Amino acid sequence: MRILGIHGSLRKGSYNQALLEAARGLLPDEVELEVAGLHGIPLYDADVDAQGQPEPVLALKEKVLRADALLIATPEYNASLPGVLKNGIDWLSRPPADIPRLFGDRTVGLIGASTGLRATQLAQAAWLPVFRVLGLVLWTGGQFNMASAHQKFDATGRLIDEDSRARLQKFLSGFVAFAARIPSRRT
Ligand code: FNR
Repeated sequence: MRILGIHGSLRKGSYNQALLEAARGLLPDEVELEVAGLHGIPLYDADVDAQGQPEPVLALKEKVLRADALLIATPEYNASLPGVLKNGIDWLSRPPADIPRLFGDRTVGLIGASTGLRATQLAQAAWLPVFRVLGLVLWTGGQFNMASAHQKFDATGRLIDEDSRARLQKFLSGFVAFAARIPSRRT
């Protein structure tokens, strides 16, 4: 199984990127997790889109198409989803004819880390209508959110909080079982 992890933060020490790296180490050997960022993806501009989608957008689309499932690691900004990640998903959703092949029936898991105490719960809730309109199949059998992320990783980005590791492993095991049972429709 191939999972594409997308994190919605551009900064070098991103806790959401580190969360996906931690997830990679907790998955069984037969499950591959590729971690993708959104660097190089410009702000959505329909005029640019009309002239042809930028190469980083096309490259991310190819990664999505190769994936059996998506794992989104979302930061929380001002009690909602972050614009950087929404912008990336918006590019992927154009033209609308691409929505079924990129997102339709594709399984997705949602996790997130924040330095605040809300632990991305509001960001995760804000993604629900977006996933619904795109036709993604969200695994809802478990949740993973992390508060006070700055206290849970070491200086190298390794997840050192044992409770978080155990909760992430439990989340991943349920998500992988779901993705295996309900495989994304492959193009
Ligand atoms: C934040 N942060 C934040 N955290 C939170 O738990 N709830 C929130 O509403 C917000 N709001 C917010 C707004 C803006 C503009 C910024 C820049 C930050 C803090 C956020 O959790 C923290 O910056 C994380 O480190 C972001 O994730 P990455 O970049 O580490 O992946």
